[in-house]
Amino acid sequence: MKFTVLGLVLGLSLALVGCTDEKKPSTQQVAGDIPAGKAFAERECKGCHGLDGKGAAPAIPHLAAQREHYLIAALDAYKDGKRTHAALKDMAKQMTEADVRNISAFYARLPPVASAPEKNAQQGSPYEQGKTLAAACAKCHGEDGNSQSPGTPGLAGQQPRYFVTALQEYLAGERKKSPMHPMLPGLSRFDMENLALYFASQTPVKRPAPSSGDAVAGEPLTAVCGGCHGSHGVSTDTATPSLAGQDAQYLLDAIKAYRTTRKRESMRVYVTGLSDKDIENIAAYYSVQAAKASEKGQTIVKDLTDKCARCHSADVDNPAMAVPKINGQDRDYLVMALRAYRDDRRESTTMHKMSLPYGDSIIESVASFYASQPAK
Ligand code: HEC
Ligand code: HEC
Ligand code: HEC
Ligand code: HEC
Repeated sequence: MKFTVLGLVLGLSLALVGCTDEKKPSTQQVAGDIPAGKAFAERECKGCHGLDGKGAAPAIPHLAAQREHYLIAALDAYKDGKRTHAALKDMAKQMTEADVRNISAFYARLPPVASAPEKNAQQGSPYEQGKTLAAACAKCHGEDGNSQSPGTPGLAGQQPRYFVTALQEYLAGERKKSPMHPMLPGLSRFDMENLALYFASQTPVKRPAPSSGDAVAGEPLTAVCGGCHGSHGVSTDTATPSLAGQDAQYLLDAIKAYRTTRKRESMRVYVTGLSDKDIENIAAYYSVQAAKASEKGQTIVKDLTDKCARCHSADVDNPAMAVPKINGQDRDYLVMALRAYRDDRRESTTMHKMSLPYGDSIIESVASFYASQPAK
């Protein structure tokens, strides 16, 4: 009985493999009929993609000069439901294999769309924008985020996602109102991300030992903290704050705040059992640990696009992998696609998810970079 079931399953999967094997080469080997593709485009695609392959409105991708095998793969992905755009899915389902081949041959052979430099003009880098905004914070948080007045946290090297969360907690009233931050409501989400990137990229300076608290007595008490806050308080998780090199008075206040005003159960459970003396010692310990920058915001966009070039460089066409050309693509479409990868709304066989753990402000810069490259 078992053998029969196994045989059935094996037979079935072999049949499936056989089926896909047959289908793929047939789409790629038979040359597309360009006039037929053009006629089809005239009827079905022109309104959005034009007969010149230029997206008719922002966020509609250019198809002109796109790689033929990528166009075929993309239409198959809509057909199979791997890509979920409703209109495209319906259209792709209606198309025969020959239609897909013909239309792909037609669009792939059109000359590339000329890019619109004024629209795609590189927005200032997220880091530089953060730096400009950070001038308003220097009075209290210090030059480059190295604070000097007791009770005011250092921001240099702080993890960027945590940083944005912290600002939102002040805005939402989930943290005690401080004398600071009347300017917070005026900051956009982008501003916050840019500030976070700027401060994360600054080098924290070493703090002198605080006048109260015993760092040696504090160390063993931090054994339980390291799992989240990192070894010696240097966090490696973008959403968890670094504690190393932080102002001791601020650490003290913050830890106590989790017993009262700050509503974070995940933190509260670890600090409720601590005595005031313990907290003072923990604060002393963390404040003298060596800290470091958590991002390299100065070069982050270039570092990222260097990685993307491995697959997306205009000169590399890997026949085994349907990689789209993205130089000169519509900027809004690129933003949309990158967000879809990041948020798991578009299936990706590649490293997109890994290379884009970032906020919208970096995604927009990467998109601007590619949109402003000449298409080939
Ligand atoms: C109503 C407007 C509209 C029409 C009509 C339309 N498209 Fe699209 N097309 C879009 C939009 C919007 C996207 C981006 C969808 C997404 O995010 O997946 C897209 C994406 C695509 C893609 C994927 C491009 C890429 O870079 O991944 C291909 C290929 C495509 N369309 C081909 C066609 C073809 C062929 C037709 C005609 C049969 C057609 N489209 C008709 C709006 C349209
Ligand atoms: C008037 C002084 C002052 C100014 C100006 C100021 N801050 Fe603050 N900031 C503080 C103080 C004090 C705290 C600690 C409040 C508390 O106990 O929660 C703080 C806390 C923070 C925190 C939380 C840090 C952490 O580790 O949780 C962030 C993030 C922050 N500020 C960002 C900024 C930014 C960005 C600006 C400039 C746009 C700014 N601050 C301007 C005084 C200031
Ligand atoms: C399960 C993971 C976890 C553990 C264990 C943990 N923390 Fe935290 N801690 C967090 C997270 C997440 C935050 C940010 C919470 C928020 O947004 O307010 C945080 C925030 C803090 C802050 C505020 C930092 C700032 O800049 O305002 C301090 C101080 C802190 N933790 C100290 C400790 C200490 C001391 C221990 C050990 C006794 C500890 N934590 C254990 C996850 C943890
Ligand atoms: C390992 C090769 C590889 C790397 C590295 C890579 N990509 Fe891709 N990329 C692909 C492939 C293959 C596709 C098409 C299939 C898919 O959706 O996964 C794609 C699709 C895309 C698309 C969608 C384009 C369209 O027309 O829909 C964008 C945008 C993109 N990549 C940007 C990037 C960026 C930005 C990076 C660097 C942070 C990057 N990629 C790194 C292989 C790669």
